[in-house]
Amino acid sequence: MSAPFPAFLDKDRLPRHIAIIMDGNGRWAKDKGEDRLFGHFHGVESVRDIVEGCAELRIEYLTLYAFSTENWDRPAEEVSGLMQLLVTTIRKEVPTLNKNNIRLRVIGDLSMLPEFARIELQEALEMTASNTGLNLVMALSYSGRWELVEAVRRIARSVEEGDLSSSQISEQTLEEHLSTHSFPDPELMIRTSGEYRISNFLLYQLAYAELYFTEVCWPDFRKQNLYDALLDYQQRERRFGKISEQL
Ligand code: IPE
Ligand code: IPE
Ligand code: MG
Repeated sequence: MSAPFPAFLDKDRLPRHIAIIMDGNGRWAKDKGEDRLFGHFHGVESVRDIVEGCAELRIEYLTLYAFSTENWDRPAEEVSGLMQLLVTTIRKEVPTLNKNNIRLRVIGDLSMLPEFARIELQEALEMTASNTGLNLVMALSYSGRWELVEAVRRIARSVEEGDLSSSQISEQTLEEHLSTHSFPDPELMIRTSGEYRISNFLLYQLAYAELYFTEVCWPDFRKQNLYDALLDYQQRERRFGKISEQL
């Protein structure tokens, strides 16, 4: 990880947290006359390159949307192919994560995952738990609505048990019950493949994220495309409801 820092980027204005909807694997493969899993397989190359790119830039958090709650409704062969790919990739990548001081984290409804995948993930989480560099957050069987419902359930339980009164519930209470509770909100959200939607990703946390969309499909997305997104981000004025002169 000794690549030079891209000179056109301002080191002092990088996001702490980048979130990516890795989309377009299926269409990328179809264009090449291949099946959808071929696209997912090549998407792993992009994950490697982008994780390395973020680690080189000293980004603190990278959240990758790898599988949504709704993706369970895809054809069974695609779902099982994706689960296999997940497990083999994690197994292969743990040594590289450790070498680069990267800590794996997961958000999502892991109870939905097949047992072999859950075990493999748990092991990888433990084996990287003491790394202090980039936090690589995989959103797996994740959706923003699922997460909010879970949070509300847990808050309601605290109220039922008398540990909390409804008037004490604040934004902070909600944030503490989200699966991202110790992470800063993403300042930049990237979606590939020319789709302009959120698709149930980080609904609460993206409130003030800068959104960046590109036509590039995920299997073609590389560090240079990440730098383009960051350059665009650095040209934005983030006002958080205020006016320019107040910033
Ligand atoms: C993103 O690519 C990966 C996952 C959702 C798992 P897609 O599989 O959605 O590819 P397209 O959007 O159909 O091209
Ligand atoms: C969003 O992509 C989920 C992931 C990238 C994991 P989808 O391809 O599932 O989203 P839609 O169906 O186009 O909204
Ligand atoms: Mg898609």
